[in-house]
Amino acid sequence: MTWIKAVSLDELQRRPVVIKHPPKQIAVFSLHGSVYAIDNRCPHEGYPLAAGQLSNDCVLTCNWHNWKFRLDTGECLIGGDNVRNYPTKVENGHAWINVADPPAEESRRRILDGLKSAFDDRDFGRICREIARLHYYGLDPVESVTTALVRAHDRLEFGTTHAIAAAADWLHLAGSYKEDFETRLICFSEAVDHLADDSLRQPEYPYAEPGAQRFERDAFLAAVEEEATDRVEAMVSRALADGLHWPDLEEAFTAAAFAHYNDFGHSVIYVAKTGELIHTLGEGVERVLVLPLARNLCYTTREDLLPEFKDYVPTLAALQQAKGLPHSSAGPDVPFPAGIVKAFEWLRANFGEYGVEQLYDRLLEALALNLLHYDVSYGARSDGPVSQNISWLDFTHGLTMANAARKLCARHPQFWKPALAQMACFLGRNFDFIDRAVDPNEWAIADTDGFFRDVHQKLFDHGLRDPIFSVHLLKTSLAVQEESEHASASCRKALLTGLNRFLKSPLKTKHVRRTARQAINLVSRDF
Ligand code: FES
Repeated sequence: MTWIKAVSLDELQRRPVVIKHPPKQIAVFSLHGSVYAIDNRCPHEGYPLAAGQLSNDCVLTCNWHNWKFRLDTGECLIGGDNVRNYPTKVENGHAWINVADPPAEESRRRILDGLKSAFDDRDFGRICREIARLHYYGLDPVESVTTALVRAHDRLEFGTTHAIAAAADWLHLAGSYKEDFETRLICFSEAVDHLADDSLRQPEYPYAEPGAQRFERDAFLAAVEEEATDRVEAMVSRALADGLHWPDLEEAFTAAAFAHYNDFGHSVIYVAKTGELIHTLGEGVERVLVLPLARNLCYTTREDLLPEFKDYVPTLAALQQAKGLPHSSAGPDVPFPAGIVKAFEWLRANFGEYGVEQLYDRLLEALALNLLHYDVSYGARSDGPVSQNISWLDFTHGLTMANAARKLCARHPQFWKPALAQMACFLGRNFDFIDRAVDPNEWAIADTDGFFRDVHQKLFDHGLRDPIFSVHLLKTSLAVQEESEHASASCRKALLTGLNRFLKSPLKTKHVRRTARQAINLVSRDF
């Protein structure tokens, strides 16, 4: 029984009528001899559409925020979400309404179209509503993230961004809250919102079609080294067209990420997160993830070319000669604090003496202590040179890169040497910006489980509009949570303490005066 007898035409001609068909409320209108039925709750904020103003050309205006809907189709003309309309018929002086749900595929298409509109506008409210609709129509809300990845991937001029890495982390978190739809909705909406933000107002930057050259590891690495973006994309497109999958490609992409101290560790993070996303979402997303990653590797900044990291290449060469031992009973002391020279010396002195996992643990502890001791005055001041534009985010990268590197090295142990050398780079870079006066006891964590419960709650209501900041809370928290399960007791303590101070400290998200002042300092020099 999907047709319900709604109201007499006589009554309907006097005024719109609201029919209750729990849990639905349906507003029924009569205009020019036709009957129309739509959801009474406005899809914007739920106020009653039956109270709206109906024009002679069949457009209904919601009184609360002036959204306008076509009554005959449900299309939203001004505002955002469309409203559901229902088939009607008239029999024996009464209006009837068909309340049957449309076929699942039709609902799915309609909701995903709505999600794409919300994505293009970066309309967070509508993103949440459309994903909630997927859930309540019995569809899979994870598809919102896949849809957003497809929408975003060829609008990323320089390839993979934090938004893609964040999607992996949000999906990971959602997986821990299977019975809690509100929390899952937050995770999916945050992932979609960040992808929308990173591709907002971007034109399309199509990827190269499959080329004549088959994917071959060394040729791929050489092309990345030459920053030959088109050639790299064509080769990777060809690999996918030839039926290769991420497990066939991961080692080559990992090698490219570790070929330099790339983009302050981001390349390593992006390779690891790409693999995690493909693992979660399946082979269907390989193309929209692997091509942006290939492009990113071509455009990435090679930080080892900067003067402060000039010892990176010789240090790595020295490590390549040495043999790391699998394990020894006690590790070396934690190299904290350490400038870049001391950090490299420490690594060279200890590499042949201790296993790579022990060295990793010590370097990770040192990076966690770095985070704990970040001198917040650098993030607050407006009068420093550009080289001192150091924020919390610079300090979190050491931990997130290390976390990604450990997971990649577990599958590809040949990359432990550059992984450790790059951790030493972070140590050296952070050295000038630490505050030795920070008291670790003030930030110590007694209850680890309770701490991470609170951390998750903060992530689910972080209050930061700009995703570049919320993503750093997210990825640092998840990296610390994962690493604390593997780390030595002292390293774990440092990780939790450092994260605690980071999350409880103010984050300045815009530096207006500093930016203006540095602009004047730069530009005025040439006049
Ligand atoms: S509630 Fe209808 S326009 Fe806002």
